[in-house]
Amino acid sequence: MKNNILVTGGAGYIGSHAVKQLLETTKHNIIIVDNLSTGNLKTIKTLKLIRDFKFIKLDLKELDKVKSILKDNNIDTIMHFAAKIIVPESIKNPIDYYINNTVNTINLIKIAVDMKVKKIIFSSSAAVYGEPDKIPEDGIDENFQTNPINPYGMSKLMSENIIKDVATVNDDFKYVIFRYFNVAGADINYVGNNLTPRIGQSFPNATNLIKIASLCATKKIEKMDIFGDDYDTFDGTQIRDYIHVDDLADAHIKAIDYLNNNSSDIFNVGYSNGFSVKEAISSMKKVTKEDFKVNISSRRAGDPVNVVSNNTKIKNKMGWTPKYNDLDLICKSSYEWEKRYASKTI
Ligand code: UFG
Repeated sequence: MKNNILVTGGAGYIGSHAVKQLLETTKHNIIIVDNLSTGNLKTIKTLKLIRDFKFIKLDLKELDKVKSILKDNNIDTIMHFAAKIIVPESIKNPIDYYINNTVNTINLIKIAVDMKVKKIIFSSSAAVYGEPDKIPEDGIDENFQTNPINPYGMSKLMSENIIKDVATVNDDFKYVIFRYFNVAGADINYVGNNLTPRIGQSFPNATNLIKIASLCATKKIEKMDIFGDDYDTFDGTQIRDYIHVDDLADAHIKAIDYLNNNSSDIFNVGYSNGFSVKEAISSMKKVTKEDFKVNISSRRAGDPVNVVSNNTKIKNKMGWTPKYNDLDLICKSSYEWEKRYASKTI
């Protein structure tokens, strides 16, 4: 079945990787809306080389325009990526996060239901689980208690609840909510034997570990910090579940068909493998053969010690099979993107 899909935030990091796969592996009609606050036009131009699609520069606050876009393009499916995503920023500016993430989502859902949109695929986060005291041996599953510890996580949990409530009273409206673990890496694209990502994370103020390590490896910044090495883990640094952005994008493509035959649901998207901060930095140094300075600094406020998914549900119910479950490849693709294309504004 050919769908008419609206992708909000399609010029951003994760959204653009989903659009890449939609363009390459499906025949769906794609319409991207993005306010270009963190996404960029270069990404749109690169994606258009794969196959043409409509791009509209628009902020989701422009409700009348969103409504017209849904109507004019006969949209049946929304992939809603557009959001603010920096945890420390959310602590400083909670209102911004609740408006951009939660209020925009309520408005979008209201219009979507009014316009008879059938499906939404929503980007949530492992941040909804907060800071678990003790995580189970086989990782955090979707029934684990939600308890966000910052406005970012709360803005996502509130959005999840709104989507669920609306779907309960609208039989024709279904959702897949994805709770992303630590997304990293860039477009796996080979030219000959050379890994040559066409798109990647370009947002200049990104704070994620693997992005920062790739900035060091490309000498765009001189050194980086490890936020605490006195945690109760095997090497004293925190554990995360790093997932390649292309595998995450693939889950979104699967979700479109999944919703044709199944009911609404929530899925973790991670590899169920934990790596420490030190292991991630070592992997970056190893695959790039670049050394850089790493300081041990104090703990970062609000960091949970150990966040690893249980991904049994998405594998079993959606048939999702990760292709890039390899920390070295995640680091290598991030580095190659950084080296060749990323913005040099840092
Ligand atoms: N870290 C460092 N130095 C850095 C950057 C990060 O030591 O320069 C450490 C952090 O303390 C943490 C790990 O690397 O232990 C990962 O940190 P990130 O900033 O890359 O990611 P977070 O786990 O803090 O957060 C990410 C996303 C959030 C999402 C969360 C869900 O950025 O949007 O995962 O688990 F909510």
